[in-house]
Formats: sequence, structure tokens, C-alpha cells
Amino acid sequence: MTKKVYMDYGASTPVDKEVIEEMLPFFDKHYGNPSSIHSFGREASDAVEKSREQVASILGAEPDEIIFTSGGTESDNLAIKGIAFRNKEKRGKKGVNIITCAIEHPAVLETCKYMEKIGFNVKFLPVDKHGLIKLNELEDAISKDTFLITIMFANHEIGTIEPMEEIGKIAKAHDVLFHTDAIQAVCKTPIDVDKLNIDLLSISGHKIYGPKGVGALYARKGTKLQTISHGGGHEKGLRSSTYNSPGIVGLGKTCELGKIRLKKDMAHLKNLRDLLIKKGLAIEESYLNGHPEKRLVNNAHFRFTAIEGESLNLMLDDKGIAAATGSACSSKKLQASHVLLAIGLKPEQAHGSLRLTLGRMNTKEDVEYVAGEIPEVVQKLRNMSPLWNR
Ligand SMILES: Cc1ncc(COP(=O)(O)O)c(C=O)c1O
Repeated sequence: MTKKVYMDYGASTPVDKEVIEEMLPFFDKHYGNPSSIHSFGREASDAVEKSREQVASILGAEPDEIIFTSGGTESDNLAIKGIAFRNKEKRGKKGVNIITCAIEHPAVLETCKYMEKIGFNVKFLPVDKHGLIKLNELEDAISKDTFLITIMFANHEIGTIEPMEEIGKIAKAHDVLFHTDAIQAVCKTPIDVDKLNIDLLSISGHKIYGPKGVGALYARKGTKLQTISHGGGHEKGLRSSTYNSPGIVGLGKTCELGKIRLKKDMAHLKNLRDLLIKKGLAIEESYLNGHPEKRLVNNAHFRFTAIEGESLNLMLDDKGIAAATGSACSSKKLQASHVLLAIGLKPEQAHGSLRLTLGRMNTKEDVEYVAGEIPEVVQKLRNMSPLWNR
């Protein structure tokens, strides 16, 4: 039987057994609607409030600053549209400028493009070859009409961590709200929303050993949002829909565990990542995408000359290895990743990239296995490639 190694934790994670155990009773025992006033409802609503505390705690926030959502995409949408619509209503034409950056996840990027379509001005900041925004460009982009900066905490492809503290300071100095998509960063780096001057922060359950289809938006006390989904008025009218109590309980538990395990997880992941990077870079004409130091502890993103990443990924899959490519298959055309193009790679270089994202369950043996298989597969593909004529 082929050995199976999962190294695509950036795409999704298994749900922690303790999290599953915590969730299970909320399917068939405590199934009441948390909004109901009877005992069944109260049991469920107590659990939702406990989760709110657990989620807040991992961010250094207060429970009443947490809004539960259906995941990272909804959190990003609620943050950007919620602030923008509210702002427009209050300030009219003034305050129509949003600043973001070129390498955001589509959940932010596409939302910002939509905002442009409906009349907002959006500045998409470029990034350097490592994927970092330039702080002077951020500062220069701010005008009196800027009301929101939305810059991701850490990039989902190349793992680069943006300078959160500095961005927070700039936002505060100019009295502009600061939202960050922290979906890849939560549980992989310490986060304190107060220290970093973050006003809004998106999180997603399934990237942190919790369930899919649940997430949260942190919104600093006093930050006024307009709802983007009208209905029964849940979450102080900001996010109507019956509470997904099993999912919310799971999100809370996984945050609690993530906080307890953060130091240990980070050390474990960093060890494995560094070993993987060292071994990957030993392959002829291989390069690391993303920042060499300011990167997520679980991310190794390689580029191999004369390789087609999709083929590499498929051949690794045959060896039981789950990885991701640097290309995003959007529509029917295989397009080079916007992140890799934004850091200055040519399309053929972008297509020759491979993302390996490690998780809590990976071992040194996993890394040895993957690092042992990649050179062979790379060589096989190069032997067939007209671009590799050594
Ligand atoms: C940085 C980032 N933002 C947003 C999302 C979307 O999150 P969700 O799948 O919970 O909607 C992802 C998922 O890949 C992500 O990596």
C-alpha cells in the first residue's frame, strides 16, 4: 500500500478528535435553537457564548467583539462591505477609498474588485519579490477619503507574513480602520489585536483543526458595521441565520486548544519546515518563494526550473503525497497564480511552483518521505521537458 502523507494543511485540516467530541452532543442532544428561550435553547446558547469567549481569547479580544460567520470568505465580505456600506451611509461621498494589496486571497481581492464596480476607489498595493507590501507606499496611498486598510496577516500561497504592527500603527495614526484576513495565521503565530492595532480580523475554522463552514469576524468595540445579510437579527443584527451550534462549539474548542498548543505547535512546525526547505533547496535549480524568514512556520513553497507544477502535483499524488501547486485553476484556463505573478515571477516560473503546508500531525518521517520523493519526480519530469536540455 502506498504511504499517504498530507502536506496541504493550508487548504484544510483534519478536525481534532477533542473538537469532534465536543461538537457531537450538539447534533443530537443539545439540538435546540440557541435563540429559543426553553432549556434546550439555553443549553445551546450557553455553548455559543462559551465559544465566543474561547475565540476571543486566542486574539486577546473581548467576547462581545466576536461575530460568528460561515467561514473566512463571509468574514472578509462582512468586514469590507460592512464597513464600506456603513461609511457611505454616514459620510456620503467622503470616505470611499479602500487600500488592499495585490496578493490577497480572492475572498478579499474579489470583494474589493466588486467594491470598485459599485463606486468605491480601491488601491491595490504592489508587493516586493518576497511578497511584502512597502510601508511608505501604504502611507502614500492614504488620503482623507480613506476609511479602510485591508491587508492579509499571512499569505495563503507563499506564507509571507506582512508587517502587522507597522500597518496597525500607520492605520491608527491616520485614523483609518485596519482589517486583516488572518485565516492562515491564526494558531501559527501569536496574535494580539490590541498590540497590533487591528480593528477587524477574519478567522476560519477549517484551517485550524476545526470544522468547515464556520468562522468568525473580530470587530473592535465601537466599530460600526452594516449587515450584508438581512433576516432574524442574530449577532446583534449583523449576521442573521440560525446559529450553527455544533460548528460554533467546534470553532471555540479548536481555538482553546490552539492557544494552549501554540508554542509547541510552532516549534514542531518550524523544525519540520526548515528541514523540508533545506532538502528541497538541495535540488538543482530549485528556489524558495516567499520571504526566507518572515514566513508561516508551516509553509514551504518551492519553484523548480522547467517543471509544470500540475504534473508534479499529480505525480506526487501517485506517491500518496498531498500538496498544492502555485497555479489556481480558475475557470477552464489554467491561470498562473496572481500571487506568484505579483512577486515578479514569469508565468512559466509560477507554473513550476509547489506548495507544501505542514500540520500538527506531520512527522519527521513524513518530511523525509516527501523530500526523498520530490527529487526523483522532478528529475523524471525534467527528462521529458523540452525546457530542460542539460
Ligand atoms: C487567506 C485566506 N482567506 C480566505 C480564505 C477563505 O476561507 P473559507 O474557506 O473559510 O471561506 C482562505 C481559504 O483558503 C484563505 O487561505
